[in-house]
Amino acid sequence: MARVKNHLQFGIMQKLYQGSGCISVLPQILKKEGWKRVMLIADPGLYQAGVIKPVEDLLESAENVEYILFKNIRPNPEAVTIETEALPAAHEFKADVLLAVGGGSTIDTAKGVSIVGDTDAHVMDFSGWPPSKPIPHKTYPIIAVPTTAGTGSEVCRNAVICDRDGFKLVLMHDSILPAYALMDPDFLAGLPFPIAAATAMDAFTHALESYTNMNANDFTEMFSLRALELIGEAIRPFVANPAVDKWADMMSRGCTYAGFSLGIASIGQDHVITHPMSEEPFHMPHGDACGMVLPAVVEWNGLGCREKYRRAYNAITKKNISEGDFDVQMLVDWVAELNRDLHIAGDKSFEDWGYNDGEVLQLMLRHPIFNNKDATPNAACSYPRVTRMKDFEYLIRLTNEYSKRER
Ligand SMILES: [Fe+2]
Repeated sequence: MARVKNHLQFGIMQKLYQGSGCISVLPQILKKEGWKRVMLIADPGLYQAGVIKPVEDLLESAENVEYILFKNIRPNPEAVTIETEALPAAHEFKADVLLAVGGGSTIDTAKGVSIVGDTDAHVMDFSGWPPSKPIPHKTYPIIAVPTTAGTGSEVCRNAVICDRDGFKLVLMHDSILPAYALMDPDFLAGLPFPIAAATAMDAFTHALESYTNMNANDFTEMFSLRALELIGEAIRPFVANPAVDKWADMMSRGCTYAGFSLGIASIGQDHVITHPMSEEPFHMPHGDACGMVLPAVVEWNGLGCREKYRRAYNAITKKNISEGDFDVQMLVDWVAELNRDLHIAGDKSFEDWGYNDGEVLQLMLRHPIFNNKDATPNAACSYPRVTRMKDFEYLIRLTNEYSKRER
């Protein structure tokens, strides 16, 4: 049979609820699915701030439901913590569902537990596993409740987990796509400014990179463009005051739509360069790194996807700039201004975070994420502009230059 090229791929294999107060459906879901032993995996900061309390109240009110709490979540979840702490707790309790309430790190921790399931395997045994090949053991279903409008992890089959050497690696499998996702914008109300800013910038980057990836199709482009419209309008007022229902709801939807798209169309060079920026010597929050890198990546990709950038710019700004009047620099400037307004990366340059063009640049380039991409022609060619190792080096240097100009 001839291989089908340019086929459309899209599928929603999970049940989604979005909107203020939608967390209240939790007991009904547990009852319908027959899930009686819930492992609540929650962000420790949110737990301390009382944000998780309404979820615990719902669990306590649910008929015949018992739960345990796990809240040893690290900002970049490590396989070792999952294997030595979270998994034994799930096994001992005989959990039949994982309820993850938090940001991307919390949901990704649940995904690490889920994929190992009831075995003694290591989390990283499943990196590189064919994403749609059935896993031959019982995995734990997940209910994801995001408390940021950022990663889109609640609607993705990806998890970012650090290996024993501290490298962030991507795990991807159908079995870790949450069975349910409850996007309740009420959880966003208390986000501190720097976290609201960084996570929102992450969601914006997902929308733009999924839109321009060469794997994008009609389905994903609809979601990406709608995400750009929603986030473009809401991002500044949301970060200024995430307790305003209108902005929180728009960001919640925009983040989810961008998440759908990135799960299929994938993302771009920004999300490659940001990997080492979350590690030694930087430890920069992921969303801050996304914002810092984005102007350089947009400038670079302009040669490959000028028309898509024009449409994205119009969606973000609600303008109607014609083909003849559009210059990619307009989008670069819009992103740079957003970085300034949101105080991305604490208003510090890349050099302030520890970067230099010498040994630190070489350290970044040795990160496995670059080797993987460069060794895979398909990955390199899915970017709007083919990007090889020497090009990534150029983009990192350009990121540093932009970061100094923006301050
Ligand atoms: Fe991201």
